[in-house]
Amino acid sequence: MAPMQTRLPRAPLVILISGRGSNMRSLVESAAAGELDCDVAGVISNRADAAGLEWAAGRGIATRVVDHRGSQDRRDFDTAIAAAVTDLAGNHPTPWVALAGFMRILGDGFVDRHAGRLVNIHPSLLPLYPGLHTHRQALADGALLHGATVHLVTPKLDHGPIVGQAVVPVLAGDSEPALADRVLSMEHRLYPMALQWLVTGRVSLAAGRVLLDGSDRSHQRVLRHPLLQADAAR
Ligand code: GRF
Repeated sequence: MAPMQTRLPRAPLVILISGRGSNMRSLVESAAAGELDCDVAGVISNRADAAGLEWAAGRGIATRVVDHRGSQDRRDFDTAIAAAVTDLAGNHPTPWVALAGFMRILGDGFVDRHAGRLVNIHPSLLPLYPGLHTHRQALADGALLHGATVHLVTPKLDHGPIVGQAVVPVLAGDSEPALADRVLSMEHRLYPMALQWLVTGRVSLAAGRVLLDGSDRSHQRVLRHPLLQADAAR
């Protein structure tokens, strides 16, 4: 009789949010669809009123609130977040941690502890526009292109090796919400795709730059908004 195939257990993924949680949803739905090879072990929010928490709980996902206002300082907050991650991940030594609209800065201790498995999505083409109000800045600069970046987290805010990017056009007459929506629709495709490369071991680093399957593959790592593809075909 042929030996039974034993499937390796999938690594746990803990998602940190602060609000709406649409990127969290895209990760959860991708994992449920078998397109992201990790188990969503739980969702943590620093705000009890984050809409994403209710959605996650409704899907039977474990949730925790770690309110930053209950911590004395950043180190205290980090310790509380780390404890919640460890608990949700069932003491797994190397869980994946995805920041998905998480609006607090994590300290070096937390970042070091999860280095290489701590990922963020940021709504700009980093290194342009780290921090807040990225869409406003792109409009003010008259940028033709804008987008989103998935990167490994390092102690410096919105910095760290770039895993993948999504590019969208900035259109004449765009409002901030219209541009944000266009970027967000691409974020929902980019985040699960880039995280899947990471969890399946396809990503390595060479001199601070991400390689996919050992080579640059920059074309594969940039998603283009449909409007850009139509333009290119003209
Ligand atoms: C997204 O634009 C994400 O890139 C940024 O914050 C926003 C969060 O949106 N970090 P959501 O909570 O995932 O809907």
